[in-house]
Amino acid sequence: MIRSVVKGVGHGVPSKIMTNFDLEKIVDTNDEWITQRTGIKERRICAPEEAASDLSIWAAKEALAQAGLDPLDIDHLIVGTVSGDFCFPSTACIVQDAIGAKNAASYDLGAACAGFIYSLNIADGLIRSGMAKNILVIGVDTLSKFVDWTDRSTCVLFGDAAGAMVLTAEEGTDRGIMESVLMSDGSGGKHITLEFGGSRYPASEYKREDYSAHIYMNGAETYRFAVSALGDACCKVMEKAGITADDIALFVPHQANVRIIESAAKRIGLPEEKIFLNIAKYGNTSAGSIPLGLYEADRDGRLKKGDIVLTVGFGAGLVWGANLIRW
Ligand code: ACO
Repeated sequence: MIRSVVKGVGHGVPSKIMTNFDLEKIVDTNDEWITQRTGIKERRICAPEEAASDLSIWAAKEALAQAGLDPLDIDHLIVGTVSGDFCFPSTACIVQDAIGAKNAASYDLGAACAGFIYSLNIADGLIRSGMAKNILVIGVDTLSKFVDWTDRSTCVLFGDAAGAMVLTAEEGTDRGIMESVLMSDGSGGKHITLEFGGSRYPASEYKREDYSAHIYMNGAETYRFAVSALGDACCKVMEKAGITADDIALFVPHQANVRIIESAAKRIGLPEEKIFLNIAKYGNTSAGSIPLGLYEADRDGRLKKGDIVLTVGFGAGLVWGANLIRW
């Protein structure tokens, strides 16, 4: 049986750090509120000249170097993002050109904060079916470019980051992506939106005062959805793989809110020491969050060959899902 084995991981984050104390100077908020309600202490913010492809290229190069692969070996380059450089060309095509992955089919996948979970499942399907050998999967978002910096209920939450993973087809191993579950509920789409710039409100036809070019989020509804979606996806994927929480070495959830993560971990019966958290340093980096977490967990020695990792994500759409990976 062919398996999609993780060969390399990488990350790309802007150098500019914005702390909660910096935010206190621009909006009516304070470090104590943000820390208690979300777990966030600081986030990385792109410079005006930085965009999603820049972070992705850093992450891609690092993941390829760890995998020991030539960019020409990549068959598919998938970028999970909802804040790419442009409507088109895709961010994947920009990355493809920059790293010289001349043999890759390159495309973006839009599933908001679940963008990496979705992309990984697609990549796994291509590898298991024999349609691809090596796939570069990137999750990236630059939502700092789309928040309203006068809206304290959203601007404190988001940061910018990319993470990348190289998957390679291998036979005769039990390592690799074990199972995934993907779910969606479009009826909840109204709870998290960024409407401007698509075909409904094209930039060429609408004046600035006609629309909101910023992220809108119904925080309370999203919170309710997230708590049940995370637990639900984790239970489903473990059931599919025939394992229990005791088999999980590390839980790397989407880092949106520490309270959401802790309640999901409690529901599935995971002790604190198995939960990976870096939300304090980065905030919610949407599709960048899970691959950045996997990169840091690997770098810090929290993931050993053969360990089972559970990832889970949820976001605008609404979409949610989980992957189980044997590292
Ligand atoms: N600083 C200080 N006070 C604030 C701030 C702030 N930054 N933001 C809101 N408040 C105030 C509110 O005005 C309110 O005041 P009031 O009681 O006088 O009206 C009070 O704090 C409580 O506000 P709530 O919204 O009830 O706060 P809550 O505890 O629900 O936390 C939060 C809000 C953090 C946004 C939470 O609802 C949440 O995490 N939701 C989920 C977000 C999420 O996970 N998004 C992921 C998807 S994003 C994507 O896919 C792109």
